[in-house]
Amino acid sequence: MVDLFSQVTAQDRMKELVEEIRHHDDLYYGKDAPEISDAAYDKLRQELEQLEKENPEFVEENSPTKTVGAAKSSKFSKVSHQVPMLSLSNAFNEEDIEEFYAKIRRFLGLEDKEKIALVAEPKIDGLSASLTYKGGQLVVAATRGDGRIGEDITENIKTIPDIPHVLENAPEEIEIRGEIYMTKTDFLALNKTQEEKGDKVFANPRNAAAGSIRQLDHAITASRPLKFFAYSHGFYRGDVGTTQNAFLEKLKDWGFCVNPMTLSFHASKDLWKNYERVMHLRADLDYDIDGIVYKINRFDWQERLGFVGRAPRWAVAHKFPAEQVETQIEDIVIQVGRTGALTPVAYLKPVTVGGVVVSRATLHNEDEIKRKDIRVHDRVIIQRAGDVIPQVVKVLDQYRHDHSKVFVFPENCPVCGAAAAKPEGEAIKRCTGGLSCEAQAIEGLRHFVSKGAFDIEGLGEKQIEFFWEKGWVKEPADIFTLESRESEINLSDQEGWGKKSTENLWQALNEKRAISLDRFIYSLGIRQVGVETAKLLARTYVSFENLMHKMIAAKTIGSEARYDLMNIDQVGEKMVEDLIQFFDLPKHQAFIENLLSQVMPQDYLETRDLSSPIAGKTVVLTGSLESMTRAEAKAKVEQMGAKVSGSVSKKTDFVITGSDAGSKLKKAIELGVKTLTEAEWLALIQNK
Ligand code: IVH
Repeated sequence: MVDLFSQVTAQDRMKELVEEIRHHDDLYYGKDAPEISDAAYDKLRQELEQLEKENPEFVEENSPTKTVGAAKSSKFSKVSHQVPMLSLSNAFNEEDIEEFYAKIRRFLGLEDKEKIALVAEPKIDGLSASLTYKGGQLVVAATRGDGRIGEDITENIKTIPDIPHVLENAPEEIEIRGEIYMTKTDFLALNKTQEEKGDKVFANPRNAAAGSIRQLDHAITASRPLKFFAYSHGFYRGDVGTTQNAFLEKLKDWGFCVNPMTLSFHASKDLWKNYERVMHLRADLDYDIDGIVYKINRFDWQERLGFVGRAPRWAVAHKFPAEQVETQIEDIVIQVGRTGALTPVAYLKPVTVGGVVVSRATLHNEDEIKRKDIRVHDRVIIQRAGDVIPQVVKVLDQYRHDHSKVFVFPENCPVCGAAAAKPEGEAIKRCTGGLSCEAQAIEGLRHFVSKGAFDIEGLGEKQIEFFWEKGWVKEPADIFTLESRESEINLSDQEGWGKKSTENLWQALNEKRAISLDRFIYSLGIRQVGVETAKLLARTYVSFENLMHKMIAAKTIGSEARYDLMNIDQVGEKMVEDLIQFFDLPKHQAFIENLLSQVMPQDYLETRDLSSPIAGKTVVLTGSLESMTRAEAKAKVEQMGAKVSGSVSKKTDFVITGSDAGSKLKKAIELGVKTLTEAEWLALIQNK
């Protein structure tokens, strides 16, 4: 049976992923200014690769999976790694480390008294490289690339003084792996000269190292102060010893630099002590490290443990917590979002934190500023939470000047001047100007054309901003009347536009006039109504006319329409208020009416199988499934009329458990929630 629902979902998600990966590739390779961590990037790629494997008919011709990150520029020839260069799984606390040990014990069937020797090496924040030596001669060097295929950087690598060109007493053939990095001192000096020359400055030492090794002219690489730590091997023919420790000794004998903070351990409590010791030393090190890598010492055990997914079972990266640094707030600026939310943002004196230069931090809301008494010109400690958005941890008020003033949060919208209101019990102040506020209108338009909404080819944020500045588009309906106004606006004569692209735009717009109800609801930009809620509303109300009618009726307290709305599972009190308010505003009614004269939201068609045994149930997925991806399993569950939830609670009907199921499985058992193995889940689907 063709499962339409999961195909549509997969195709949409694939489009989204392609776009996102391209954006990050551009930041990383084009601008050397990444916004997300490698791990987060890897996750996106893995998800796309998996979806492409399962849905080959939707693979884009120029998908980033075909033109792998670094190889994208095609400046360098490609090198296949004989043994893939994989990533490491992460551990963040003692529990994760214990789990790492326990899994190894279970896997190898070791008794408790049997000691497991580990080697702990600092995790260098650089870029990995593989160096192939044949007959002791360095013949090829490659970047990691996507793990299977990297870029040939042989000539460039030979300019790094740490890398020997000839190995004595080496195996017949061996691939040495390690990390290319730049010291912090060298990075700062390089940026200084780059700036003086008017050349590009780098975001952090890692990007400086990456940018330096990926030079077509290896004289440039030679002029950059790169270094190298060796830590493992790939393919080899010959003798590499029987343990990681012995191998590291060989690396040293061959002339490689091995990190001097490398140590061996047996007990987990010693690992912990070492972790704290290294974390303490970290600030004084002249190169960035972001954790400690633990590797099982015995190679025969490594071999038996093998890999799961893209990471070895025999190693783990014990990551350091978010790095904190001190800087100064230069200004506090209030931004206005699509729903009118006023968000204070601190403009900072740029600093490197967690390897990225940051110049802004979110201050969340008015209360946060009050609570921490954050003021312009304050010295502050900031940290990067998760991967991207930095936060102010605390103010160093001992450095505050006497004339420093308490920050006064504005009473009016800084963009349109309308009053800003904070409803009781809410933390966020909002502009009450609605769509007459320029900031809200333009954010609303951006949202209207976004991926989950109208998603019009050739009409992204940039084009919307251009149309807005020209005064051609003030509200969504205007987008659809552009074509009829062409003789007036002459879009095809504008810079960046031609006959062809204008024609294409008209075509793309006309194709979107008949739009699915859920996308239409989502496109309106109602506060709190995301893609999932829009689907829920579409399912419940079936036609837009009915939805609007019921939302207006629901304004009356005690009405049946209000009762029905409140009874939709997952629609809380706040959302009820937001929905009613949205449809109640005459301004909104007018923009909807204009829009409806241009587009036709289609009535919702039920594609779910509501007679399935899991219809109406709440399901949690955990661990990895062998037979399908998470995305596929989620689509399947939804297609069968059930809801997928991210966490286990008493409301969960059952939990589908793949291999490596962890805390969610534990919680399900604790709460007595029914669990299904993958085989049981498959039987359930197949019986349908
Ligand atoms: S061993 C099978 N050891 O971390 C994995 N990696 O997250 C073998 N890294 O791509 C990697 N220091 O670039 C290993 N001492 C170390 C490392 C290290 C940094 C990097 C490496 C790898 C990434 C994995």
